[in-house]
Amino acid sequence: MKDILEFLHQEGVKPELLEGVGAYRREHPAAAGGLSERIPAAEYLYYGKEVWEQALAVLLSGKNLLLAGPKATGKNVLADDLAALFGRPEWNVSFHVNMDASMLIGTDTYDGQKVVFRPGPVYLSACEGGFCILDEVNMAKNEALSVLHAALDHRRIIDVPGYDRILVHPAARFIGTMNYGYAGTRDLNEALSSRFAVLSMPPICESDLERLLSERFPDLKEAVRDQFVRLFLEINEKAKNAEITERALDLRGLIDAVGLIRTGIRAGDALSLCVVNKTFDAYERGLIRDVIDARIPADLGKEDAFS
Ligand SMILES: Nc1ncnc2c1ncn2[C@@H]1O[C@H](COP(=O)(O)OP(=O)(O)OP(=O)(O)O)[C@@H](O)[C@H]1O
Ligand SMILES: [Mg+2]
Repeated sequence: MKDILEFLHQEGVKPELLEGVGAYRREHPAAAGGLSERIPAAEYLYYGKEVWEQALAVLLSGKNLLLAGPKATGKNVLADDLAALFGRPEWNVSFHVNMDASMLIGTDTYDGQKVVFRPGPVYLSACEGGFCILDEVNMAKNEALSVLHAALDHRRIIDVPGYDRILVHPAARFIGTMNYGYAGTRDLNEALSSRFAVLSMPPICESDLERLLSERFPDLKEAVRDQFVRLFLEINEKAKNAEITERALDLRGLIDAVGLIRTGIRAGDALSLCVVNKTFDAYERGLIRDVIDARIPADLGKEDAFS
């Protein structure tokens, strides 16, 4: 945790926000016992000062945060970092179309002798003052989501017939993520979106991407790293100008490709596996391949890329 705070100081995040985090942590000391295992380790740091400042302001004011943006813009990395920074246990729920309220709140189960209530992730984070990550929250049907309304607005209660009525712990926060920008993504209904402050996640900027690659791959040669950065920016530019779709714009894929090169696979194959082949249109694949070939030789190997 100390590291994230230090990192945010260095990033130049407004001191009053970081003081706010300190005050929150004093008011809600980090969970002990088994719950401490739920505090994320924050394996990766999110880069992007403005996004950090907005997210902190929202959470410090007690509001719920919706991180909305294209794939691989660091939504889950940021959500985990926030739970780590605030020192709270985290519950992660992946939303899907067959989700129902009981998967969020809990269900009655038989323990062999009697029927007992088995609390769900929303219930637990509300009781324990946890951070509840509602991942891809737009994917669930509206009926399942309506159970969240009273928990997410000023009432801060969970009241479901047949269950206890509980108050949401003052330390608890809800962070939704929502992927948009390509076909097949659903909208979030207005009742729910009105209960969140919505942070629109930008694609990572050039200098932050340089830092990210250097951090993940300290032995990646600088000249090669720079070509990967350029490549990402170029694909980004082409997607923005609608010359290609956003399918190939996938930072996760780019990072994976660098990782594959380190395991001994040539750059051409690594980039096919992780970037090019994610596009299923042959013509577009050709365009992306051309962009890649202009920057990164297909036979670039581990020995050329890493020192
Ligand atoms: N601004 C950023 N700072 C740090 N890492 C980033 C950033 N943007 C993307 N990444 C990296 O991209 C990868 C994907 O991040 P993450 O899983 O958080 O994305 P996501 O937005 O949740 O994607 P999806 O919508 O596909 O679930 C991670 O390796 C993450 O570190
Ligand atoms: Mg995600």
